[in-house]
Amino acid sequence: MLRNILPLCLLPILVSAQYGYNTDSSPTPTGSSVKAAPSAPPDTTGQINVDVFFQGNYTFHPNNFTAPKGTNVTFYIPNSGFDHSVTQSSFASPCTHLTSADNSTVGFDSGLTSAKQFTITITDDTKPIWFHCKQVQHCGLGMVGAINAPTTGNNTFEAFMAAALAIGMNEPMEPDNGFVSGGVNAVATAPAVATAGASSSSNGGFTNIPTHVGILVLSALMAIMMM
Ligand SMILES: *[C@@H]1O[C@H](CO)[C@@H](O)[C@H](O)[C@H]1NC(C)=O
Ligand SMILES: *[C@@H]1O[C@H](CO)[C@@H](O)[C@H](O)[C@H]1NC(C)=O
Ligand SMILES: *[C@@H]1O[C@H](CO)[C@@H](O)[C@H](O)[C@H]1NC(C)=O
Ligand SMILES: *[C@@H]1O[C@H](CO)[C@@H](O)[C@H](O)[C@H]1NC(C)=O
Ligand SMILES: *[C@@H]1O[C@H](CO)[C@@H](O)[C@H](O)[C@H]1NC(C)=O
Repeated sequence: MLRNILPLCLLPILVSAQYGYNTDSSPTPTGSSVKAAPSAPPDTTGQINVDVFFQGNYTFHPNNFTAPKGTNVTFYIPNSGFDHSVTQSSFASPCTHLTSADNSTVGFDSGLTSAKQFTITITDDTKPIWFHCKQVQHCGLGMVGAINAPTTGNNTFEAFMAAALAIGMNEPMEPDNGFVSGGVNAVATAPAVATAGASSSSNGGFTNIPTHVGILVLSALMAIMMM
């Protein structure tokens, strides 16, 4: 409800000013900014590690990569003051958990959580795997990712990101039923587990919390004004 009330004219300004279009293709920055990042360790053979809410931004890092069959991809979800998820979606519906009408096909989902790590294993590297964060508004702010996305044609990562940003504040509110095992082209077999050494002082999300809360407060105020 609330997110429909925020004037549409404000959204492009908010989105471009605070979040922008971010493909995370830049190399990992060095120096003091690294301290704000959650703790995805370097990749090793057969193991790719992804930071969730990287440096307090509404992004996965990396958010567009290839992974051969058998690769384990582990997502590091920080304790950022609010929960995040790694939820499989589809190119057609970037911000919606991938589920067929009869539940015969269900995408993986970490469920909303924090200070955890969540692993999926690639089972078919010839098809793309699309995912997003189901936390309210995060997907529409560009918190999406793709594994083995086509590099040409209509269904590129760039098009997927653009589709998520186009949804913006109209992102559907998703139910959260916790961990969902299985998946399409990649599977999760176990719930997220506590990240070794994660501390409550992890400040991966600190920088943007005021903005996040600000949007909600602004939305609430406008809702009250319009009553
Ligand atoms: C992926 O994780 C599973 C379960 O921990 C493990 O058995 C397997 O060896 C891992 N694969 C790679 C390539 O590391
Ligand atoms: C995260 O966002 C801040 C501004 O909020 C920006 O300065 C920084 O470059 C961003 N980091 C990444 C990795 O996009
Ligand atoms: C599919 O799963 C959801 C969530 O577990 C459940 O609410 C729904 O009833 C299921 N639908 C069918 C057709 O089984
Ligand atoms: C790609 O998109 C264009 C424009 O929407 C459409 O004309 C074309 O048929 C699409 N190509 C495929 C392979 O779907
Ligand atoms: C996504 O990654 C592919 C390679 O896997 C690359 O060709 C493409 O340019 C990337 N897209 C963006 C928007 O970074």
